[in-house]
Amino acid sequence: MSLTPHSERSQIVKVLQVIDETVDAKSFVFATEWDYQPGQFVTLRIPSDLTGSVARSYSLYTSPFDAVRPGVTVKRSPGGYASNWLCDNLSEGDEVEVLPPAGAFVPESLDVPMLLLAAGSGITPIMSILSAALSQGSQHIVLLYANASDADTIFYDDISSLEASHPGQLTVIWWQAEYRGIPDADSLAAVLSPYHSRATYLCGRDEFMAACKEALRVIGTDRSLVHQEIYASLSGDAFADVVPHETTDAEAADAASVTVYNLGATFTIAWPRDRTLVDVLIAGGHDVPYSCQSGECATCICRLSKGTVSMDVSDGLDPEDKEDGYILGCQAKPTADELEVEY
Ligand SMILES: Cc1cc2nc3c(=O)[nH]c(=O)nc-3n(C[C@H](O)[C@H](O)[C@H](O)COP(=O)(O)OP(=O)(O)OC[C@H]3O[C@@H](n4cnc5c(N)ncnc54)[C@H](O)[C@@H]3O)c2cc1C
Ligand code: FES
Repeated sequence: MSLTPHSERSQIVKVLQVIDETVDAKSFVFATEWDYQPGQFVTLRIPSDLTGSVARSYSLYTSPFDAVRPGVTVKRSPGGYASNWLCDNLSEGDEVEVLPPAGAFVPESLDVPMLLLAAGSGITPIMSILSAALSQGSQHIVLLYANASDADTIFYDDISSLEASHPGQLTVIWWQAEYRGIPDADSLAAVLSPYHSRATYLCGRDEFMAACKEALRVIGTDRSLVHQEIYASLSGDAFADVVPHETTDAEAADAASVTVYNLGATFTIAWPRDRTLVDVLIAGGHDVPYSCQSGECATCICRLSKGTVSMDVSDGLDPEDKEDGYILGCQAKPTADELEVEY
């Protein structure tokens, strides 16, 4: 039976290939072509008897610069619904509903020395960035990749091949806990100190990310160089469309005013107090990034350079992002009269 899209943004794609990566991780390659950037993710709609469906995001492990179809890698979460459903049920030739590539975990430049830090399934966006940087740049890249054991290591053969084919450009620090112990801040700092001034991208379990961030702080890496992807299970319906809302006279009379700097364009619009920034910008016909609409994926991240906002959910931001003035457009509502936002 053919699927029908539930949202204006979503599309139905066919699974071209299913690859067993490890005993608890599978890659799904899609029979489609997307315009995407290394490090981005797609969101899949997974059927559920309980709730009708759930939405889950999965990073693309492929590089847009390689002549390959896009794919995601799903690692089973113990007790998790969607990851196990996908690994148990999604087969070659099946259709799946997908929100197109999104996300801000994208390198500003692929031709700078990089430090890539990944653990477990956190390798997927890092693999995309690594492949893209190796093909598009010529700078040295260090990948530190932590796993429980060799058998648990997703893309072990692919990364080994990249290491062999890019001697001098790629250094891989394999960190198997079975030999080296769980990476903590001290042991990571000892290994990472030569790379303190590099653009750094990290993704993995919470404890790994916390240890990496502490290690980077200890070795003196400037916070502005550090970028992370936070994995979370989406709680809302990411497939719901943003419905443009007609501003009432009362809302307009009480609205704040926001000046937006977006991709070189500057404009000022009214921002009704009980509406999110994404809502007002989409209603105003402005093309701004968003995906989950529930404050969890950080696709809508932007910087507040003037004014204040409230956010019901801000899980997609870490405390450092918030200190630096970053907000989530899908959650932000104005609590000042005049605001400025930079995308
Ligand atoms: C931008 C982004 C990119 C991502 N990329 C990837 C990727 O490339 N690969 C990947 O594998 N994942 C990725 N994820 C994570 C993925 O979206 C899911 O969160 C993950 O697959 C778990 O979903 P699930 O439905 O299987 O687990 P869930 O059912 O959501 O459960 C998650 C965890 O919570 C526990 N849990 C669930 N219910 C309860 C309960 N009632 N009480 C206690 N514990 C509970 C489960 O045991 C499980 O460990 C990404 C997430 C984001 C936001
Ligand atoms: S769109 Fe996902 S956090 Fe805002």
